[in-house]
Amino acid sequence: MQRGSHHEAWSSRFAFLLAAVGSAVGLGNIWKFPYVTGVNGGGAFVLVYVACVILVVIPILIGELLIGRRGGESPANSMAALAKDENRHSSWEILGWLGIIAAFLILTFYSVIAGWSLAYVLETAKGSFENIDATGSREIFDGLLADPLSLGLWHGLFMGITMFVVSRGVKKGLERAVTVMLPSLFVILLVLVGYAAIAGEFKRAFDFLFTTDFSKIDANVILIAVGQAFFSVSVGIGALMTYGAYLPRDVSIPKMSCVIAAADTLVAVLAGLAIFPIVFAYGLEPGEGPGLIFVTLPIAFGQMPGGTFIGTLFFVLLAFAALTSSISLLEPTVSRLVEQRDWKRVPVTICAGVAAWLVGLGSVFSFNNWADFTPLGIFPTFANKTVFDLLDYLATNILLPLGGMLIAIFAGWLMAKKSTLDELGLTDGPVYRVWRFLVRFVSPVAVGLVFLFNLA
Ligand code: PHE
Repeated sequence: MQRGSHHEAWSSRFAFLLAAVGSAVGLGNIWKFPYVTGVNGGGAFVLVYVACVILVVIPILIGELLIGRRGGESPANSMAALAKDENRHSSWEILGWLGIIAAFLILTFYSVIAGWSLAYVLETAKGSFENIDATGSREIFDGLLADPLSLGLWHGLFMGITMFVVSRGVKKGLERAVTVMLPSLFVILLVLVGYAAIAGEFKRAFDFLFTTDFSKIDANVILIAVGQAFFSVSVGIGALMTYGAYLPRDVSIPKMSCVIAAADTLVAVLAGLAIFPIVFAYGLEPGEGPGLIFVTLPIAFGQMPGGTFIGTLFFVLLAFAALTSSISLLEPTVSRLVEQRDWKRVPVTICAGVAAWLVGLGSVFSFNNWADFTPLGIFPTFANKTVFDLLDYLATNILLPLGGMLIAIFAGWLMAKKSTLDELGLTDGPVYRVWRFLVRFVSPVAVGLVFLFNLA
């Protein structure tokens, strides 16, 4: 069969852009970025983060989309095909499998957290947070986490919606979903920023995010920023490589990559500008950690006029953002399976989704029945790590950087210069040279350092 003939293509460059930005914008931007910034000292972290995106993540993203489009298949088959074209060892196919497996593993716990946001849409809409105090808010959150049945069901509902979208294919499923959800997400986000600007302490939030105190930058902040940048832009695994395979030839990969990374960073900063003014106005703690939007923010929603509406809107935003990312996490597995002879998209999606849901139950139980179960507890690095923590660690701290580094090595060192020039549609001018320098030297070294540090 001809390469790529198993798959539909995006109907336009704009459709691809929406889907790729949808993949990038997710829990990583709205849940993780504000709290990680809060914990790591604000402006200094933001500065390092932006530098990581530009110097490390964009060059790898270009490499990833380039490999995806040239291969035209799922990450595994694309890597196998390119290894052959470029006369490289056939074991490079493993890099594709690594991407598929990493995406699948992230999906299993991503869906659990996304389930919290669905639960919070209902909780906020019901008015549960009206006039609540910090203890009350924490009780609601802890109550949800302690209940494996409802966690499992919300996780199931979220996975079900993801499966529904993916089962309908690239044009009728993914494209339609992102065309509705991504613009709505931007509108909701702008409404929330507008609200925060009027009702919150906007100036303080702005200073918090953009005043750089260089003394706060240390090795650890840099490491966290690199990891966060990878996760947030969806780089290093099979997600965008798969989306790249459906990309028409006339689309410029370097331009698209910059737009994707810029949009992702913009949303993260806007999320910060929606959240911190409220945090400051209500005297809450910016360095609260993972509970920032689930425990802290609802206290403010419960006190502010119209808070039930604003709060519900906020969690709808979070659910939308998560869904446009989760579909890109399920798609790599599905794309590989439909390349198998006679395997149809709908049953394959159901099998993959149900499997991800089942594995995700391990993360569900990590917050209650298995809270004390630390499978690798004998190793000091993994002491106190639950199944959820381990999966998150494995995927985010090991598989993403490893995948990213290998993509950089393959695209920068092992593919012929001619192939990459041709695929990027560039001449051997300054843009190409800057990219090639970054992807050969800067990105792999930076990621290698992070990788070593995380293992140490
Ligand atoms: N980028 C997504 C987010 O910010 C998560 C993700 C990671 C999606 C890797 C696909 C691949 O939430």
